Amino acid sequence: MDRRQAALAHVKNQASKGDVEAILLALDDFAIHQEFLMNVGPEKGPLLQAKVSALSAGARVLELGCFCGYSAVLIGTALPEGGSLLGIEVDGESVQVARAMVDYAGLNGKVTIQHGSSDEVIPTLAGTFDLVFLDHWKELYKPDLLALESHGLIQPGGVVFADNVGPHFNPEAYLKHVRHSGRYDTEYHSSHIEYRDEEDGVEISVLRQTSFNAL
Ligand SMILES: C[S@@+](CC[C@H](N)C(=O)[O-])C[C@H]1O[C@@H](n2cnc3c(N)ncnc32)[C@H](O)[C@@H]1O
Repeated sequence: MDRRQAALAHVKNQASKGDVEAILLALDDFAIHQEFLMNVGPEKGPLLQAKVSALSAGARVLELGCFCGYSAVLIGTALPEGGSLLGIEVDGESVQVARAMVDYAGLNGKVTIQHGSSDEVIPTLAGTFDLVFLDHWKELYKPDLLALESHGLIQPGGVVFADNVGPHFNPEAYLKHVRHSGRYDTEYHSSHIEYRDEEDGVEISVLRQTSFNAL
């Protein structure tokens, strides 16, 4: 069985429907004791959840890369009143598992998983997002952030939360942009690769209020 389907079956076996905490624990348990899953995981996850909880009512969150829906559940449960999450996932099997995970967590009304590739979906999006979670393929972080910027999709004062920007992932081009373009106030938080003892980090960047034209 595909490891994502196996992880979903493990969740349904270990956690009751709607018990978000037990669902995330079951996914962690699967990743530790059965097969590795590239979830944001239990060490970096709470940092993401804290940033989502701090958003204002009605906030819109965008996630690039959903895999099994671990972070979609984690974000969905932390959303403020009236908030929503749109997750974009390129792989059809992952879309199916992430949607099933969101449904099992009881978060269907708040979380939508859209099937598509970030570079194709970004130009079709409307409005602005208050938080963007970058967690798809690492070489796409910079081009996709530039696309989000050029389409005006990030709310000034909005947060860009990038997972896996530790030394293992060659994040130099992305970090150079958020640290030196003058567009962001940005901070690195040291952590570990999910379920492993190797160094990793997340970069949390806040889009400055200054308009791009003035830079
Ligand atoms: C690290 S996993 C995401 C983990 C997930 N955010 C979590 O913490 O539970 C990366 C995912 O990004 C997806 N992906 C890669 N490139 C993509 C793209 N261009 N657009 C959308 N999804 C993409 C992969 O198929 C994979 O499922």
